[in-house]
Amino acid sequence: MAITLDTIMSLAKRRGFVFQSSEIYGGLNGCWDFGPLGAELLRNIKDQWWRAMTLRDDVEGIDAAILMHPRTWEASGHVAQFADPMIDNRTSKARYRADTLIEEYIERLRAKGKTQDAEALEERLRTAQTPEDYYAIIVDAAIPDPISGSRDWTPVRYFNLMFKTFVGPVEDDSSVVYLRPETAQGIFVNFRNVLECSRRKLPFGIAQIGKAFRNEINTKYFLYRTREFEQMEMQYFIHPGTEQQYFDYWLQQRMEWFLSLGMKQDMLRVKPHEKLAHYATAAVDIEFRFPFGWGEIEGIHSRTDYDLRRHQEYSGKRLEYTDPYTGEKFIPYVIETSVGATRSLMAFLCNAYTEEEAPTAEGGMEKRVVLRFHPALAPVKIAVFPLVNKDGMPERAQAIYRDLHKRWKTQYDDSGAIGRRYRRQDEIGTPFCVTIDGQTIVDGTVTVRDRDTMQQERIAEDRIIEYFTSKLSDSN
Ligand code: GAP
Repeated sequence: MAITLDTIMSLAKRRGFVFQSSEIYGGLNGCWDFGPLGAELLRNIKDQWWRAMTLRDDVEGIDAAILMHPRTWEASGHVAQFADPMIDNRTSKARYRADTLIEEYIERLRAKGKTQDAEALEERLRTAQTPEDYYAIIVDAAIPDPISGSRDWTPVRYFNLMFKTFVGPVEDDSSVVYLRPETAQGIFVNFRNVLECSRRKLPFGIAQIGKAFRNEINTKYFLYRTREFEQMEMQYFIHPGTEQQYFDYWLQQRMEWFLSLGMKQDMLRVKPHEKLAHYATAAVDIEFRFPFGWGEIEGIHSRTDYDLRRHQEYSGKRLEYTDPYTGEKFIPYVIETSVGATRSLMAFLCNAYTEEEAPTAEGGMEKRVVLRFHPALAPVKIAVFPLVNKDGMPERAQAIYRDLHKRWKTQYDDSGAIGRRYRRQDEIGTPFCVTIDGQTIVDGTVTVRDRDTMQQERIAEDRIIEYFTSKLSDSN
């Protein structure tokens, strides 16, 4: 069954996963708010990543400030190179990313069966780097403005994606700072601090989760390309010459992480970069099959000693490492793993979404929407229902709910038919529902219903905590 982005977005809004930012004012393009369930899901993804990264003996975590000294971004290359090629159409006054304009034109050629023309343009786009390269492709292929059909284009210019603001009361060039476009630089500038305080030896890593900001021209596909987002990045510092070994190692680790959290194998693929970022000598993307097609969720990059070397040069502080065994001094190489927390939340939502036919209590069939989240990611772990609101059931159910809620995110629901209540929980991905019925009052057992199999089992009330402790052992 092919799901659409609209289906995911409408469920996300209706059930309180994601809202448009400042929606009552009409929203702000490229920014989203996480509602009660989305905030839990995001937190669970970040917790799982943090545990996978830092519950090992070679990675430390940090939490650096979003605002950093502006020289950071000169050293990192972002001031000079973190830019998209833009082109304006003089007739419609619309502004486009030149590479996207060309890509969309290539798709239209393909749709018309002009495969050879499409392939020829694709080949030119692959090697395009300068504004002149992009401009020449657009003019040579006579690409029209999708809005006006006009071919009256301005030259292509680079537009920097970093948000600028000012520190202090004076808004001049000397007080400019940037909202960080990646969390990685907070790690590089703290390399020496962490090395010294933790008394680490290579290889070791530094992990960080935090907000990043990019003034994307084309925000699109819901949480996929936004202006404010969250990243989970880890820089692994290594001896030069070992980069291939650790690149392969971390790619495997990261693929296993997604799979261990229920990502379906056929929804993931690894794609080498065709164009390398200014700091990378090798890079692959882990891609997810979104409803709109394959899209990157994580990048694994071999960054050499580029960043530390540049920070050493720009700050004048030595960032070398002295090998304790050989006495050799060198700037460590780096393997980076960089995953979007918010973008992967969208991938986990799409991966979990299932529609199926399920039997009703009356013996018929109906559509069942289920989010098949891994229990560790599910925003709500358990729901508790009294079968009916009488005969002592609500009191027993409340007592069980209060006990469970101290340990796991639990919901209490006593309204509507039991089948409806199950469906409401299926739709938000709650793995277990506990029902207190007439038999509970007689023999002290409750039913536990499994979201995926819809099978129910009876367990003793006094074993509930033990039961869920084993079922939810890797959850918070
Ligand atoms: N430090 C390397 C770096 O930032 P990147 O490929 O630009 O590399 C890494 O970004 C990850 O951050 C992406 O794989 C994606 O998951 C996420 N990301 C990047 N830009 C994003 C945006 N505009 N909106 C949402 N997520 C984004």
